[in-house]
Parts: sequence; structure tokens; C-alpha cells
Amino acid sequence: MRHVPAPPLPRLPGFCVTGGKGGVGKTCVAVNLAILLAQTAKPLLVDLDLGLANADLVLGVDPAGNLAEVVLAGRDIASVVCESPLGVGLVPAASGVETLANLGQLELHRLFNGLERLGRTRQPLILDTPAGIGREVITACRAARVTCVVLTPEPTSLADAYALIKVLEQAEPGRDIRVIVNMARDQQDGHTAFARLRAVADRHLGRQVELLGIVPRDEQVATAVRRRQPIGPGPALNALKGIAAKLRGIAWSG
Ligand SMILES: Nc1ncnc2c1ncn2[C@@H]1O[C@H](COP(=O)(O)OP(=O)(O)OP(=O)(O)O)[C@@H](O)[C@H]1O
Ligand SMILES: [Mg+2]
Repeated sequence: MRHVPAPPLPRLPGFCVTGGKGGVGKTCVAVNLAILLAQTAKPLLVDLDLGLANADLVLGVDPAGNLAEVVLAGRDIASVVCESPLGVGLVPAASGVETLANLGQLELHRLFNGLERLGRTRQPLILDTPAGIGREVITACRAARVTCVVLTPEPTSLADAYALIKVLEQAEPGRDIRVIVNMARDQQDGHTAFARLRAVADRHLGRQVELLGIVPRDEQVATAVRRRQPIGPGPALNALKGIAAKLRGIAWSG
């Protein structure tokens, strides 16, 4: 079969938070990094879990509009941005709208062009992707300047993170990929998981992946989700602060 190259994507000034496997903490990490980055920037969080939104729940806002109206009814994307009191803007997804989870390439490109326009005045864009290696996930990874892959120390999570990196590398070699190990028992547990991923990526794909940080398992995270509040003081918040500091050093528009 002839390989048809994908159309060129806009480059988004920001990073996507993805990981292959479901439930590894992508949304918690994306939302809380957005909250931390809002101390020095004007981040825009984009919920790309298009049919199963929940960044709004974790961020603690109740959006009036969402991406369903943008994609299906042609509403201006800027008009659905929802402001949180913590300084984070959210582009909310819809919940239970099946067609949004199955967008075609054309609609996806239109959506990413809209995000590129928003990114001209508001950075960084933080794209919270759904689980899996579907078209919307790979498109988000290719569009964002940096891809943050979240995994947990479980072997299944490692396998899914590797699968995602492999597909991404095939779609567009040499992307900037950085790894966050979440729900680690301790530093050693996190470093071991990262070393495994680095070894398979090096051996099978011949590419480097960089460690962005290790976020420990911390009851504060589940408490924050239940209360719809930012993560409270503790080891997870400390680790996320370290990751946010590294992300602040990146020139998003470059
Ligand atoms: N560091 C952590 N310590 C303890 N619990 C955590 C941590 N990170 C995430 N969790 C828990 O894991 C749950 C799932 O997290 P989250 O919704 O962010 O995952 P996800 O990867 O976005 O899932 P999905 O694939 O469904 O989008 C959260 O509700 C939270 O309770
Ligand atoms: Mg999620």
C-alpha cells in the first residue's frame, strides 16, 4: 500500500501529556502542572479527551461551552475557553459525545489550527490526551513542541508507553519526548521504571528519551480529585513543582 503523508500540522507552543495506558495520571499531572505554571505564565489547558471530558472536574470549573460546539456547530474556539480562579484557561471537552471521539483528519486539523490561534496569545498550551494511540493522540503529540509521556512502574504501563513512543517515532522521528513516572513507590522504583523504558527505546528504536521527573504515589492526589482542588502539600506536589520548573525553561514558541 502506498504511504500517504499526513498533511502538515500547526506547531503548538506547549506540551502534550499522554501515555498510552488509561488511568496513569495524565489528567492529574496536566491539570496540576497548569496550576503551577500559572504562577508565572498564562497556560491554556486543552482537554483532548474529546468524548470523555474530565479536566474540568479535576480543575474544579464548570464550563459553559465545550469543543463539541466548536467541532459540530462551528462555534469560535476562543468563546469556549473557561477561566479558572487559579489562572488556568481551559478548553473543555464534551462528555458522552461519541462523534467527538471519532474525529476525522480534516476536523482534527481544523481543531489544531484553532488551538494554534489561541496559542499566539496564551502559552504554554497543555494538551491532556486520552489513553491509547488513536489518531487524536498522535496528532496532539506531533503538534505540541514537547511530548510528556506519563507512565507508572507497572509493566503494562511501560509496554503501552513504549508502544506510543514507537508509533510516534514512526509518524515523525526525533520528536522531543520526555518521561514522567507517576505513582512511584519511591525514587528507586521510579528510576527503575524509567531505566526500563529508556533501554527498550534505545534498543528497539535507537532513540533517547529524557526523564522529566518522578511523581510519588501520594494520597493528596486522590484527595485533590475528590475535592476538585489543586494537590495539597506533600511529595507529589513537590515533584510536580520540580517538573514545572524544568518546563518553565523551555522556549515554547521556538
Ligand atoms: N501520584 C499519584 N498518587 C496517587 N494517586 C494518583 C496519583 N496520580 C493519579 N492518581 C489517581 O489516579 C486516578 C486517575 O488519574 P487520572 O484521571 O489523572 O488518569 P488519566 O491517565 O488521565 O486517566 P484516563 O486515561 O482515563 O484519562 C486519579 O483519580 C487519582 O486518584
Ligand atoms: Mg485523563
